[in-house]
Amino acid sequence: MRRPLIAGNWKMHTTRAEAVALARGIAELPTAGVDVLVCPPYPWLVPVREAIDGSTVLIGAQDCWPEPQGAYTGEVSVPMLSEICSHVIVGHSERRLIRGEEDPLVNRKVKAVLAAGLTPILCVGEALTIRERGSAEKHVTTQVRAGLDGLDPTEIQRCVIAYEPIWAIGTGVSATADDANRMAIAIRRHLARTSTGTAEVVRILYGGSVTAANAAETLRQSDVDGALVGGASLRIDAFAAIVEAAAK
Ligand code: PGA
Repeated sequence: MRRPLIAGNWKMHTTRAEAVALARGIAELPTAGVDVLVCPPYPWLVPVREAIDGSTVLIGAQDCWPEPQGAYTGEVSVPMLSEICSHVIVGHSERRLIRGEEDPLVNRKVKAVLAAGLTPILCVGEALTIRERGSAEKHVTTQVRAGLDGLDPTEIQRCVIAYEPIWAIGTGVSATADDANRMAIAIRRHLARTSTGTAEVVRILYGGSVTAANAAETLRQSDVDGALVGGASLRIDAFAAIVEAAAK
């Protein structure tokens, strides 16, 4: 039985005061049966960590750099994050699109996160043109293969995969619950080629315009093990409803 994970990706939002207030609100939510994760911007990791102290809420970073230290101006390494975080989002489509990150770098980041003992959340997802061409599954499973390249089954079991179709992110147009589940099944089938046991334990999240209104149906699907939530994770009422849907 895979435990649901609801992750809030705050992206480049919130002031320090807003971040702390939001974190305090989330720390008070009933979270029985659900892993709840918040991923604030880098500067708020420490204050948010303090705000959730004593609760079961987990904290993660939105990105990392694969080298442990060195002359990488502006970057943050996983060993640094490991003092604060348990999870790191890797390969989000906004980084792939805006910052030109490609699969080999994403793969190095996944490996760096695992090497530091943290959990990578590997994001994959297709653009609308790829879906319209009928190549979404091939594109997504190729991204999964490249992102996990070189890992053994025990390492893959420590990863979380987030399926986030690019056309659904921040658009208000979520994938249907059925489409999300179909892709989760395709990813799991791909993982099963390496090892059946691995495919059964890896958590696969859906992300892309998840709201309080559509979460329950998506989270009810057989192979969707949680959600990576952007916009709705910034509003305590909406995020609370999504966590509650996952608990059911
Ligand atoms: P959204 O973002 O929920 O605002 O669509 C999801 C994400 O980018 O992780």
